[in-house]
Amino acid sequence: MNLRIFHNKEAWSQAVATLWLERLKANPALRMCLPAGNTPTAVYRLMAAAVAEGKISFSRAEIFALDEYGGLPVDDAGRCANALRRSLIDHLDLPAGSFHTLATEADDLTVLCRAYDRAIEPGFDLTLLGIGLNGHLGLNEPGSAPDSTTRRVEMHPSSTQASAAYVQRDQLPTWGVTVGMKQLIESREVWLLACGEAKAGIVTRLVNGPEDVAVPASLLKPHPDCRLFLDQPAASRLAV
Ligand code: PGA
Repeated sequence: MNLRIFHNKEAWSQAVATLWLERLKANPALRMCLPAGNTPTAVYRLMAAAVAEGKISFSRAEIFALDEYGGLPVDDAGRCANALRRSLIDHLDLPAGSFHTLATEADDLTVLCRAYDRAIEPGFDLTLLGIGLNGHLGLNEPGSAPDSTTRRVEMHPSSTQASAAYVQRDQLPTWGVTVGMKQLIESREVWLLACGEAKAGIVTRLVNGPEDVAVPASLLKPHPDCRLFLDQPAASRLAV
């Protein structure tokens, strides 16, 4: 895992966006898995600006949403697909059919998950991930098997609590559907993103600890092309 620490969030987001532009220029048909959540929004703003300025195009790219909450109305602003649309997709020249989302309101989630698995094949070129406070990736909560694929998961209470920052309702989601650890691990390149003091504890556990299913992000440690991008507060408890 290649560790990079930036002195502030602006430098951090510039670095991630610059590298992303390079990847997309090198491969305009890049297949990406992207998270909602607060962490990547500054990076998304820079990518949207690059598209507006004509510096880059997503017209041949494919984007897969990493996860989705269950039990929320399709128009809830906190649904991952809606948050991703607002922060990124609506500002890109990505064809509508090239944005893949998880319709957790479907009657048969097994059919939904197997269809997503098939759509993901032949895998992601680039996956961006935030790190949950408990080390989760998407909704792959602690204990998630390294060979797991797209599936329904019961959310850890801390993840349900964290969702209060995004969803519009008093009734918070307790389950969701997520791309599996296998598909994240098999992504040709993975960028783990963390910002802010609140992530310093889990980042330290990730960097200093072993590969352990109790910290899903640590399953990426043996990945041949995984980068960990931190701002100074997220790195503040690392001895580097
Ligand atoms: P955040 O969420 O980017 O809003 O911190 C990350 C996560 O909990 O998966």
